[in-house]
Amino acid sequence: MSFKIEACNFNNIDVAVKTLKENYVENFPAIRVTKDKILGKGISLYLLSDISQVPHNPIATFGLSSAYEDEDVWKEVRASLSDGFDPKKDAVVGQLSISSKDVAITRVVYGLLSDKAQQMGFERLFFILRGNVDFYKKLFNAILIKNDCNYDIGVDRKISALVVETKEIKKRGLRFLNRNLSSCFNKSDCLIKREIMNKSHWDEYSSAFDSIITPPQVELYNTIAPLLSGVVLDAGCGNGNLAAFVNGEVSTYHGVDTSLDMVQKANANLQRLKEPQRFQAFHVQLEEFVNTHQYDVITLINSVYAMDNPSLVFKHCYNLLAPGGLLIIANPNENMTKSHMEMMIELYEAQFRDNPAVADFKRLNLQFVTQYQHSFYTLDKVEGWLEQAGLSVTNRDCTHFHGAMNLIVAKK
Ligand SMILES: C[S@@+](CC[C@H](N)C(=O)[O-])C[C@H]1O[C@@H](n2cnc3c(N)ncnc32)[C@H](O)[C@@H]1O
Repeated sequence: MSFKIEACNFNNIDVAVKTLKENYVENFPAIRVTKDKILGKGISLYLLSDISQVPHNPIATFGLSSAYEDEDVWKEVRASLSDGFDPKKDAVVGQLSISSKDVAITRVVYGLLSDKAQQMGFERLFFILRGNVDFYKKLFNAILIKNDCNYDIGVDRKISALVVETKEIKKRGLRFLNRNLSSCFNKSDCLIKREIMNKSHWDEYSSAFDSIITPPQVELYNTIAPLLSGVVLDAGCGNGNLAAFVNGEVSTYHGVDTSLDMVQKANANLQRLKEPQRFQAFHVQLEEFVNTHQYDVITLINSVYAMDNPSLVFKHCYNLLAPGGLLIIANPNENMTKSHMEMMIELYEAQFRDNPAVADFKRLNLQFVTQYQHSFYTLDKVEGWLEQAGLSVTNRDCTHFHGAMNLIVAKK
């Protein structure tokens, strides 16, 4: 199943609080979590929705809050804590609800929970639980703070309080979460840029991009396609050009893109391919995209330069990849200047002379070279980020696009 994780705001907070069957509102009537309570307390609430379905089906929510001082239950627990709470480092996990007993979904939710806690700079997570203490102890090295709390949750069951140190999750837990220590996030790793999804400047590019594929692009897709097999994610897929080049080794092709126009064109193109049920594109930002299954290969073709934080994107890709999986990156390098692009256009434009989109294609390519020049990273820079994320570079090739493109293959 494919999911989108989003931070809740006024638009979707009701969905997160109310719609799930197993949420606190139903199970713990005494707590009565409401929208106002969440917003008023500054709880960061996240909603996970299944985007394989239309309409998108909410699957889980969780909240993180450093404002626990006035909760009765935490007053009681606090008495059992030797070092007290530090709002800068400590967060209470609340409103954790999963509308499925599926272990794969549980894994996704807990993985995201730990990602978000790291991104917010929290070092300890406090939970109150009705059961499953052993699950937390085994997988997350949780320490039990207090059993049988007196706090009344409105049901005939006592609760326990536990704490998890986010940096102390050991091998077994990290394996369960499909994470490693190097792919952990930092406080400064801010994931979600909401405005991108409203209207993307890539929408304007989608028509020209859909009708013109240049020889250097074809050569690049032809080099990458034989490396693809199993379940593949094409991140920043655009109109899904790459899919037309894949062979029968690819059982599933998923594309994700923030431009709605690109995704619509991609899905139309994908339907024309052999065995179209293998192919699907989703309108979602890569950084917000998660899945219950792991990918054998993730491609980032001419899309890293358009993303805000490549180091963070590579960590996220690490988390999406299966062990031994490949991350394939094609990104322009420092040789991609405006004059290099002009030279390439001059070489190939005769082939597209009669195409009505050619003027737009030229104009937009030159515009993007200027706009994204600062993100045409050197090989060393990209390799440094990949290694930081725990990936090993196995191949590098700087010959594509007349020497202005780095093609890098890295393995998990
Ligand atoms: C130049 S196009 C490349 C398309 C495709 N990979 C190809 O080679 O044909 C770059 C695409 O990346 C998408 N993109 C940029 N940032 C993204 C993000 N954070 N998540 C998903 N897609 C993104 C843009 O919307 C755009 O469609």
